[in-house]
Amino acid sequence: MFKKINILGIETSCDDTAIGIINLILDKKKIKETKILSSLVINQNKLHKKYGGIVPEIAARAHLENIDYCMIEALKEANIKLKDIELICVTSGPGLIGGLITGVSYAKGLSYYNSKKLIGVNHLSAHVLSPRIKNKINFPYLTLLISGGHCQFIIVKDENSFERIGGTLDDAPGETFDKIGKVLNLGFPGGPEIEKLAKKGNPEKFNFPRPLSKINDCNMSFSGLKTAVRNKFNEMLQIEKNISIDTKKDICASFQKSVIDILEIKTKIAMQIFEKKYKKEKKVLSIVGGVAANYQIRKVFDKLCNEKNFKFYVPPAEICTDNGVMIAYAGAEKYLSNNENLNDLNPRARWPLDVLAPPLLGYGKKGIKS
Ligand code: KG4
Ligand code: ZN
Repeated sequence: MFKKINILGIETSCDDTAIGIINLILDKKKIKETKILSSLVINQNKLHKKYGGIVPEIAARAHLENIDYCMIEALKEANIKLKDIELICVTSGPGLIGGLITGVSYAKGLSYYNSKKLIGVNHLSAHVLSPRIKNKINFPYLTLLISGGHCQFIIVKDENSFERIGGTLDDAPGETFDKIGKVLNLGFPGGPEIEKLAKKGNPEKFNFPRPLSKINDCNMSFSGLKTAVRNKFNEMLQIEKNISIDTKKDICASFQKSVIDILEIKTKIAMQIFEKKYKKEKKVLSIVGGVAANYQIRKVFDKLCNEKNFKFYVPPAEICTDNGVMIAYAGAEKYLSNNENLNDLNPRARWPLDVLAPPLLGYGKKGIKS
């Protein structure tokens, strides 16, 4: 006997206030089909633009101003009432603590006042489970999470069990795109703007570094690449005085090529590790997170997976960047597998997906989200 339930997801861990509503068709506790009823994202790009990066306190206040409106519009778009929601899911970490407190407090009020069940969701788990929203992908599968705050290779063993086999030692790729965007005065976030200019530039014009590419593990580093691009920009400034748009296009294309090469080189190693561990399993790779919205990256990974005999999945761009739908979906998977835990409703700035993996950071940078 099939059952239908509606689930609401709330996301405020960074600079997007997002609410998504999904409808699940369930066969006992198994998800048969997921329908997206609505997905509202209110970004704060205008507020952070002049700073060239996210200002946490401004972000937290903007979430507070936007969240109720976002909720009302999400219900309208889904054409349902709050009483039709069975479960509320909220991101409780990792992320910027002010935004997390805003989202979790709002969700607690909503749940208490309307007598709805509430579940706290790990933002990273939502990204790595997001390819399952629209595809039937069995566990285990390999994921590369590339976003503004994170860069990790994760083996998704099941809906509650994640193994990290590598990641960045310093900056995340999205953060690097954003900082280069700031240097080139392209506005915030830099990722989509750099992708646009890169299309018209020459990727071979500048030979930027591919750090750690000779090391046989799947750890990465983007901090030196960022410095190399900044140095090149300053050098060109001496020559051109006003950097021409053509030079900017070439810098963007060459920088993007370096990022793609680093990701590709390290993914080949991650694939080998996965194949060794799971000899008999189907080989699947997915890329998730905001940077996976990049068309050039998607194209290169599609080709790589073809060559290596991995089935390739990447969610639609609007599910790669932060959204409420993936939070609702990850909360649903957690709920249906009886893994809810009241402690998960405490906002946490840091919340690693794989608690057993040793910390990767410490060399270049402190303060990453997990
Ligand atoms: O997953 P996300 O929305 O937020 C985090 O959890 O961090 O990722 C945001 C990041 C930003 O750094 C943004 O510049 C980057 O994703 N991004 C892109 C593209 N679209 C978004 N980077 C490269 N190319 C894109 N098309
Ligand atoms: Zn994210």
